[in-house]
Amino acid sequence: MANDRALPTTPAPVERRVAAIQDAFAARGLPVVQAVADLSHKAQEEWVPRNGARVVARAWTDPAFRARLLADGRSAVMELGLSMPAHHRHLVVLENTATVQNVICCTLCSCTAFTVIGLPPDWYKDLEYRSRVVRESRHVLREMGLDLPPEVEVRVWDTTADTRYMVLPEQPPHTVGWPEEKLAAVVTRDAMIGVARL
Ligand SMILES: [Fe+2]
Repeated sequence: MANDRALPTTPAPVERRVAAIQDAFAARGLPVVQAVADLSHKAQEEWVPRNGARVVARAWTDPAFRARLLADGRSAVMELGLSMPAHHRHLVVLENTATVQNVICCTLCSCTAFTVIGLPPDWYKDLEYRSRVVRESRHVLREMGLDLPPEVEVRVWDTTADTRYMVLPEQPPHTVGWPEEKLAAVVTRDAMIGVARL
């Protein structure tokens, strides 16, 4: 059927378009305004790197937990009261050593284990990082401030919808013996992505 209504030449202002979408949801009984508020609260208060930092600190201080974390990351983080969406079926924890540096990316889009290590930073979503870290990882890491000696092997891991990654950084020697809470404070998001060492 032909649509003889003239299309507007310019789109409505964004506020009017947002209001129209909200009205359409409300008309169907879907509380979208509350859902957006809930999501933004989760993003700012709940899905934060300090979750992963607690996991790392526990792994550094508890060898049995570390073993469980490396064997089945998803179950192990749940021991600490963290959760993961059902479609994040696997959390693979990658252990850095003196001679191995693991780095994570999502070549397709921006996937992370966001409930554990936090939402991805802007550069992680950038096509520049996603494409180049795979082809010239050592070079990209150097540009980001991590200049690795040649004997350190770089391993890049590409996230998928159901397999999420987290890097377990090496514990800095001067922190051995610290309490867990103090250890967690030295763990950064970038170290859990693998673009920094501690
Ligand atoms: Fe993705």
